[in-house]
Amino acid sequence: MPITILPSVLSADFSRLGEEVRAIVAAGADALHLDVMDGHFVPNISFGPDVIKALRSHTDVPFDVHLMIAPVDAYLQAFAEAGAQSIIVHAEAGPHLHRTLQAIRALGCKAGVALNPATPVDAISYVLDAIDIVLVMSVNPGFGGQKFLHAAIDKIRAVRDATLGRAIAIEVDGGVDATTAGAVAEAGATRLVAGSAVFRDGPDGYKTNIDAIRHAALLARGELI
Ligand code: DX5
Ligand code: ZN
Repeated sequence: MPITILPSVLSADFSRLGEEVRAIVAAGADALHLDVMDGHFVPNISFGPDVIKALRSHTDVPFDVHLMIAPVDAYLQAFAEAGAQSIIVHAEAGPHLHRTLQAIRALGCKAGVALNPATPVDAISYVLDAIDIVLVMSVNPGFGGQKFLHAAIDKIRAVRDATLGRAIAIEVDGGVDATTAGAVAEAGATRLVAGSAVFRDGPDGYKTNIDAIRHAALLARGELI
């Protein structure tokens, strides 16, 4: 699967989100990653479906909605209607992960499962048929700008082995920048989420920031000469 870069809107300037979305897409974002936090499953609160819906008219790129909320089932429809193309839930986000994944697909979205740093890859062993994306968290969820946890690299490899031969994409989220992108791409991640590393230096720097991450990933895969 090709490398794609998904900027996390969590690190954008919330006072002018529409402009930020247009700027980051113009800078080369392949999709947008939208972090929804409930102050319960994670110790922070971000935004909900109305904000995502308001952003939908600013771009055509896919919306990858990362739900850090529990219990999650009652909110899936609202995020699908807000314009999500993929919805990612945490393995711990409800009592019946398989049912949650089925519900996401029934809403017409790709279904993803996020694995916290402490969550074993085994958590998805028996639901692989219901999964389109596995998101390996390389920080504890809740905040942007945290330090990359290197144990994620081995975990990405383990997910790659567990999903071999299936149409399942591996996404990585947390502390991804030009210095860590190579290792995660080499290990098998193709969907690279990055927040603070892309939304810095103002809009004039966005293209350089995205290009640096993409370049590191492609180099590690031997796709650049
Ligand atoms: C963390 C979020 C991430 C976050 C990443 O809970 O899921 O998407 O925005 O931010 P950086 O790239 O700054 O670690
Ligand atoms: Zn995220």
